[in-house]
Amino acid sequence: MAKTPDPVGRATWSSNLGFVAAAVGSAVGLGNIWRFPYIAGENGGGSFLLAYAVAIFLCGLPLLVFEVAAGRQYRRGILGTAKGIRPSLWFLGAGVAIIGFIILSYYLVVTGWTFGYLLSSPLGLDTSFDAFGSSWRSLVFFGLATGLSFTIVLLGVNSGIERASKALLPLLVVIISLMAGYALTLPGRSEALAFMLRPDYSQLLLSETWANAFGQAFFSLGVGMGVLVTYGSYQKRGASISKSGIAIVGADSIIALLSGLIVFPLVFSFGYSPAAGPQLVFETLPEVFQQMHLGVLVGSLFYLLLFIAAITSAVSLLEMAGTALSDGLGWPRIKSTLVTLGPLLALGSLSALSYSPVDLRLFGNPVLNILDTAAGTIGVLVGGLFTSIAIFWMGKTELLIDQVRNNGDARWATFGFLLGKYVVPPALMLTLIFTAARLF
Ligand code: PHE
Repeated sequence: MAKTPDPVGRATWSSNLGFVAAAVGSAVGLGNIWRFPYIAGENGGGSFLLAYAVAIFLCGLPLLVFEVAAGRQYRRGILGTAKGIRPSLWFLGAGVAIIGFIILSYYLVVTGWTFGYLLSSPLGLDTSFDAFGSSWRSLVFFGLATGLSFTIVLLGVNSGIERASKALLPLLVVIISLMAGYALTLPGRSEALAFMLRPDYSQLLLSETWANAFGQAFFSLGVGMGVLVTYGSYQKRGASISKSGIAIVGADSIIALLSGLIVFPLVFSFGYSPAAGPQLVFETLPEVFQQMHLGVLVGSLFYLLLFIAAITSAVSLLEMAGTALSDGLGWPRIKSTLVTLGPLLALGSLSALSYSPVDLRLFGNPVLNILDTAAGTIGVLVGGLFTSIAIFWMGKTELLIDQVRNNGDARWATFGFLLGKYVVPPALMLTLIFTAARLF
């Protein structure tokens, strides 16, 4: 492969471990700990895991790997990479960036909740969701989470994002292992394991199970949101993308499973319903922690875990948005990132205010929930579709396959590309249709 030198001035990860840590930090987030258990819970537990595995390996992994390849090829964020593939595709890149930005706005509100819950119980504040959501805590903690994300991103790719990911990820692994170990000593353990692992094959006949599995897989890996393109643009040319991709996907899946192994034993041991939906982590679990021995300690550890997972994902979306703007306007990275602060605070406040005394609603629903459905459920799929069309149908096939083949497995590179071209877009289309049909 003809080696193009890295453009002067663009940062690179100090090592491939730095890249993998940052990408795992992006992938592992609220999606794994908050969303995965309740989606699995609502879709039949064990059978959902099967559909989820299919989604991850057939679609998630190929898209992830080639997003990194495209970022590394064009050395730009999502907007610049789309333009690099073909100048007329700028609008696909811009579309992805806007969807990611909307996700970031409410993601920071929920990140704030995790921070708020972390501090509420040691401070002796009421930790019920009603008390939380009818106070100004959503707004305050949204501001704090936003400030922290900006600080990390503004410190730079190496001194900020890479350093934070390398420090926080091991902590996350320690906490999650401790908590899973503890949860598995609880009396609800066998019920939880049966619920999570025993497949109910009839669920696999439902389009809903598959649509949810694909949607969850895309959200959890963070594919289709320009983040992996952006992080890939900082990857050194010598590193193997396919091996890094497998590490990222593996870590994301293991952490989702471990989260289930924490949440379900807690839920079953205290007699709650595993299918409580989005409230599972913010309504059910605080009640559980209140009832249990050493609940303040276990609860604080749990929300610390959630906070660590969330903040590194928020950072990745912010980096994506900042670099997209920098690609478009030609501004330095810091300036472009700072410019997003105003719009982000404005948009995020709407979501925060929907869980405050103002109780801001649109069409009868909290703004946060509307944005989550529009961007987090539908938008992610649209973003994945845009990305896969640009990369697999408009991109220069050989250049991208070469990026993956380099230090990786040549057969895998071609096979992954074919999956990306012929399986990912139709699977995303079907998921979109089924998801939209269920919502409207
Ligand atoms: N993957 C993250 C999670 O599981 C969320 C995310 C989505 C991050 C899109 C980046 C891009 O919570």
